[in-house]
Amino acid sequence: MKITGDKIKKINKAVFSEISKIEDLNKLEELRIKYLGRKGELTEILKSIKDFTIDEKRQTGPVVQKLKIEFEKLINNKKKELKAQGEDYSFGDFDPTKPGKKIKIGNLHPLSKVDEEIRQIFTSMNFSVIEGPEIESEYYNFDALNIPADHPARDVWDTFWIKNPENSKLRMKNEELKNRDSKSTKAKRLLLRTHTSPVQIRYMEKNNPPFQVISSGRVFRYEATDSSHEINFHQVEGLMVGKDISLANFKFVIEEFFKRFFKGQKIDFRFRPSYFPFVEPGVEVDIKFKNKWLEVMGAGMVHRNVFKSAGYNPDEWRGFAFGMSPERLSMIKYNIPDIRLFYSGDLRFIEQF
Ligand code: PHE
Repeated sequence: MKITGDKIKKINKAVFSEISKIEDLNKLEELRIKYLGRKGELTEILKSIKDFTIDEKRQTGPVVQKLKIEFEKLINNKKKELKAQGEDYSFGDFDPTKPGKKIKIGNLHPLSKVDEEIRQIFTSMNFSVIEGPEIESEYYNFDALNIPADHPARDVWDTFWIKNPENSKLRMKNEELKNRDSKSTKAKRLLLRTHTSPVQIRYMEKNNPPFQVISSGRVFRYEATDSSHEINFHQVEGLMVGKDISLANFKFVIEEFFKRFFKGQKIDFRFRPSYFPFVEPGVEVDIKFKNKWLEVMGAGMVHRNVFKSAGYNPDEWRGFAFGMSPERLSMIKYNIPDIRLFYSGDLRFIEQF
């Protein structure tokens, strides 16, 4: 089959006029196939070039090649143009009038919420928030708080001791260590802190009064669990030291705290005398919950010996300290019957807050 210049001109004209009328991508693809596809008109011409004489090849070859490149360019430009229009004027499968899909996000654990709330209330009363380690030394957890190794009160805090070679060596020598300076020797035995009170000593060693601080964190006790006891729970420690701090200041701060924490909720609470080696006098605070008094806090005036361990002059400074249980406060606030629910990982529980 021979082709003439006329035929090429005709195809050229046809492509230009057809492409200008095209309005969608499918039609454009049809046009591409018609001319440039495997059996397209221009492709056929290109295929037939092999049968030309040398002269004919020299004449038409470059013209047809040029045409092919031009067509491809034309089609690509048109494609871009149509795509750009599509983006502007059509939503495709997307229906903007449908309601959006609700994306499920997590919940804060009730204890995280309560912790944040407690921090906010105390910072608004000018308390600062401080921290201490969960793995503690025997010295800070007990000795410095006026609870020496042979003190019967140690039984109140059943302890998880950390197993390390240092500990067993020291325990073997415990008898002879008893009467020695606890700061330099027993200090090395490690344990999981049984309360947040060691933070008091750590803070006082490095800071001068007057001040008021709270410290919130995890504590551990080696004891049987039930609906109000866990081996792992939290405490918020408070410490306020100044020249003339009294138990009256403590009462005011705690009553103010309860008012803000429980908002409108009516609660019955009481202060009653109690004993902790690191305070004198000592008190406990109970709140009525399900017709029973539930202990939510231990407190009292900082003991002279505690001030001495921290390097303060006990004739010069006074302070109150308290340790409260965010778990028990949450149980009362949200009417949660069992402390073990906090650590159950049960979404049906957590999603309610
Ligand atoms: N640390 C005590 C406890 O865990 C609570 C407490 C703190 C009592 C501060 C008095 C003063 O039981």
